[in-house]
Amino acid sequence: MGSMHSEGKIEFKAYDTDGDWRMVETIADVRLSLMDILRSNGFYIKGVCGGLAICGTCLVKVISGAGELAPPDDDEAAMLEMLPDAGTGSRLACQLPLSPAMNGMIFRLQNYA
Ligand code: FES
Repeated sequence: MGSMHSEGKIEFKAYDTDGDWRMVETIADVRLSLMDILRSNGFYIKGVCGGLAICGTCLVKVISGAGELAPPDDDEAAMLEMLPDAGTGSRLACQLPLSPAMNGMIFRLQNYA
């Protein structure tokens, strides 16, 4: 008993590259990335490197709430630097562990085909 407090439910909104959106509801679990949870909710993310921060195909834009996320580490920052489509609020979905801070955020997949 008493574990309920540590399993915060998080809910956020995500747009695919066509502009369609849906709400994603999950629990905060740092073993899962934003890429994992978007995929399991039916979003298509190429993610060819499987989460190693070396392909850039999981690019998402944080439309609302970017400031609540921990800043990119060196690997993510280096990859973002190489992506012409990366701009303010762009992140690699594979490098973002699910966290309660994502509650209420809005993401848009940028996704290289
Ligand atoms: S899946 Fe390759 S950088 Fe995220």
